[in-house]
Amino acid sequence: MLQKPRGTRDFLPDEMDQRREVEGIMRRFARTWGYREVCTPEFEELELFTIRSGEGIIQEMYVFEDKGGRKLALRPELTAPVLRMYVNEGKTLPKPLRWFYFADCFRYERPQKGRYRQFWQFGIELIGADSALAEAEVILLARDILAASDISFSIHVGHLSLMRSLLDGLDPDDQKKIRMFLDKKDTGGLAMYLSSQGRDDLCTRLTALAGCRDLNEVFTITGDLPDRDRIEELFSILDASGLEYTLNPGIARGLDYYTGMVFEIFAENLGAENQVLGGGTYRLAHLFGGEETPSCGFAIGFDRVMVARGERMPAPGTVAGVAFTPEGRDWALTVAGAFRNAGIRTELSLTGKSIGNQIAQIARSADYALIIGKRERELQQVTVKNLRTGGQKVLSLSDAIGEVSGSEPR
Ligand code: HAM
Repeated sequence: MLQKPRGTRDFLPDEMDQRREVEGIMRRFARTWGYREVCTPEFEELELFTIRSGEGIIQEMYVFEDKGGRKLALRPELTAPVLRMYVNEGKTLPKPLRWFYFADCFRYERPQKGRYRQFWQFGIELIGADSALAEAEVILLARDILAASDISFSIHVGHLSLMRSLLDGLDPDDQKKIRMFLDKKDTGGLAMYLSSQGRDDLCTRLTALAGCRDLNEVFTITGDLPDRDRIEELFSILDASGLEYTLNPGIARGLDYYTGMVFEIFAENLGAENQVLGGGTYRLAHLFGGEETPSCGFAIGFDRVMVARGERMPAPGTVAGVAFTPEGRDWALTVAGAFRNAGIRTELSLTGKSIGNQIAQIARSADYALIIGKRERELQQVTVKNLRTGGQKVLSLSDAIGEVSGSEPR
């Protein structure tokens, strides 16, 4: 038996119903904040992703060559593609641009619960705004979307300047390694690495900073910073808006394009892969041939949100099944069409067996059976059988629709 590729999933209708429902909630919220949907290709020139992060990232991607010899990659995320699109198509649009996307991404990772090789992100990018208020908007929108998705979570907000102030002057490769340890919260690895370099003092300061939860104390560790006012403004907006969050200067973010505010959100009832959202302030447009454009955004790991929500009963709405004799067929088709036009999910029996047999089959999944024979056809009526109560009525078509649509789905 053939199987799906490792790290991918199939979704049955019950699961798709729930995914679409949550996706709809996310779209609705993004729209009410003024964000509009964009779409980019599933694959891009490989260079789009290596230009900022280096060749190392190739190991984590699906990379291939097409028949024309072009090096392409399935997108591992959408920030770089969306900013490429902005440079190609959106430069002249009035800024700031508020864009959102819901799309699948591909990463060559070791699959486990909450970590897949194909997964979906719901993300937003606020392009061309450079202020604490813009950063706060992005964080508050993230909070609203996740709260509406009905999961429990905690928000951690940091700023890269804080960590950078301690790493200033170090070799960029060293900085990258240290950020990787911090991103993975691997304090043991960090201590070993810095100790091997004779930098135990730095390890102590980094660990103290990463664990600090008070902004004034943070500045005593980092010393004064050029963007201190901006950082203070951001946190004062967050406080004024009543956001519940944790200040976390230890957030390093795995991706290389962030420049300032960074934030991560963790779901409370997930295992190791509990980060449901990552985002921050970044600059990418200038790398793709555009002007330097301050931007800010986030991406939600949609699949992790679905895992965090847990199994829920789908709400399919009322379902009607149509059972009919050969003489009733044409009228049955008309009746089914009229029910569907009224927004009722209506399934025609396809077995061609006896009416009793058809009703028995319909009863497995529907709330009502619409029974149509020669008499119903002649009188243009419908026999409506309530499959929960067993009650049965002969009604005109419009009364039949009223009877079924007025009922509660089971
Ligand atoms: P990221 O943190 O790499 O950021 O990914 C965002 C979210 O996608 C993660 O927090 C996680 O929930 C989910 N995710 C990542 N990898 C997987 C996986 N293998 N399986 C399931 N879920 C996964 C970004 O991608 C940035 N583009 C976010 C951003 C937008 N920054 C600014 N704008």
